[in-house]
Amino acid sequence: MTSAVKPGLVQRYKLAQRVVHWLGVGSFLILLLSGLALLVPQLAFLAAGGLSRLLHRIAAVGFMLMPIVYVAIVPHDALELLKESFTYTGKDLKWFKHMPAYVLGSTKGLPPAGRINAGQKIHHAMTFIMFVTVAGSGLMLWFGQAGLGPEGLALVLSVHDMSMLGLTVLMIGHMYFTFLYGALPAMTTGYVSEDYARMEHAEWYETLSPKTVAVTEGEDQKAA
Ligand code: HEM
Repeated sequence: MTSAVKPGLVQRYKLAQRVVHWLGVGSFLILLLSGLALLVPQLAFLAAGGLSRLLHRIAAVGFMLMPIVYVAIVPHDALELLKESFTYTGKDLKWFKHMPAYVLGSTKGLPPAGRINAGQKIHHAMTFIMFVTVAGSGLMLWFGQAGLGPEGLALVLSVHDMSMLGLTVLMIGHMYFTFLYGALPAMTTGYVSEDYARMEHAEWYETLSPKTVAVTEGEDQKAA
């Protein structure tokens, strides 16, 4: 694939990865809003007529398809994401020690990170775990509710609601860091500045081949 290049930018995410991410975000937000309409008595009027129940099920199918689509179209990237999210070393520990300053917007003395930093690893790993618990409990509520009994139903409902709460807290933190460090272009255009890549992911930046580093406007170059 030949990509248009701009000076000082490096490719961070392919189009396929970005499409899967935003489809996941869209379905998650519909799940959250339609779920709140079913859960919160004050919002019950939004659930009248069964629309939010229907929307919740349609979005649930989209949300559950997200990892399947990711693996189907970019298997290497999907497995890399899964593996990196659950692999921690002493370098990640050093990064975590810098976390309080990082939360406040300081990258001074930030240990060099790989393709995803330790904070992102935690976010992605927790997201995967809660994805499994929210989807598993949701499928039980959808197809197996009759056989759960009152105590089983209460347990499955609390797993479902707590998982959704956890995913919402994670999303708020994820958005906070996205905007604090200007990371949004990574998921909109697919590119970040070389300065950003050096600051946030120095070890990953060093591994990039000249092919992935876009250097000159108008010059044809192959994206990784
Ligand atoms: C409006 C809300 C959101 C914004 C602005 C946002 C933004 C971003 C950005 C900028 C990145 C790339 C960071 C990097 O350079 O590595 C990213 C990655 C990611 N986000 Fe989000 N995100 C949002 C919601 C979500 C939600 C709701 C989830 C999970 C349910 C999620 C899961 C992920 C994952 C797993 C990645 C890594 C993607 C990959 O490696 O393919 N995001 N997000």
